[in-house]
Amino acid sequence: MEIIQKPEEMQAWARAKARLGATICLVPTMGFLHEGHLSLMRRAAGLCDLVAASLFVNPTQFGPNEDLDRYPRDFERDMALLRQEKVAAVFAPTPDLMYPQGFQTEVRVKDLATHLCGKSRPVHFAGVTTVVSKLFNIVQPDAAVFGEKDFQQLAIIRRLVADMNIPVRIVGQPIVREADGLAMSSRNANLDPANRAAALSLSTGLQLARAKAREGVRSTAALHALVEAHIHSFAGTAIDYASFVDCETLEPVAEADERTVLALAVHIDGKVRLIDNGYVLPQDAN
Ligand code: PAJ
Repeated sequence: MEIIQKPEEMQAWARAKARLGATICLVPTMGFLHEGHLSLMRRAAGLCDLVAASLFVNPTQFGPNEDLDRYPRDFERDMALLRQEKVAAVFAPTPDLMYPQGFQTEVRVKDLATHLCGKSRPVHFAGVTTVVSKLFNIVQPDAAVFGEKDFQQLAIIRRLVADMNIPVRIVGQPIVREADGLAMSSRNANLDPANRAAALSLSTGLQLARAKAREGVRSTAALHALVEAHIHSFAGTAIDYASFVDCETLEPVAEADERTVLALAVHIDGKVRLIDNGYVLPQDAN
């Protein structure tokens, strides 16, 4: 497994592999890897000849009062985990290599980035779409895998690739959860035991909405009231949003149907902000 820091060296690696006829699948990450990330690596290995992972805690997607400094990091552990997967190269640049002096370009998707997380994190998605555009140009992959855990991010990247005619196939991968249902996240490392218990409010809130929708409650106002009361019954939770939205437009919907996703963002004890999401109704039901 090659570990590459410099964008121009990564580009040279990718060009050399492409010249030999190999296809490349990129898995972008910010590191502190868990089973969710590793499921993306395994999916990528099934899609292309070579997997390239990137590991970069991208400063431009964090707002001024967000957790950039507290974002967990462990480079050696991440490399050990990636060595066990079929990863041919890891691109792990430093911020100054990605954003050298004089850098001033931003890539931004408009409407989709204003909903949900875009409301409380106004600079976040412009940071994501800018860095992902750079990663696509640096690694020149045939495909890239993103997790459905970051449901809005996936929708925005699909839009970016379609709008800008970027020749990369975008593949979504289902959410990997802990045994008790908590969606895996690098940020879970920042939860103490009490907060870890409160963090379950998201996945159990999703389960509650699903159960009620399947019983026939389709009004999202009614479902929202149930989910809100459920989440607030856990000490230390503050809801950023609990929104029933269309899976593609991310616009709020009044009546839940097969396209409706419940998207959740909850602050735990004012310290850790967690997200989760899921379809409210079974996808094959009519
Ligand atoms: P990060 O949070 O490290 O996530 C990297 C990828 O792993 C994303 O596509 C994310 O959706 C996926 N992922 C995280 N937790 C998951 C889980 N429990 N199950 C399945 N997939 C999961 O998302 C980012 O980094 C950044 O915004 C990035 C795209 C790298 C741009 O900086």
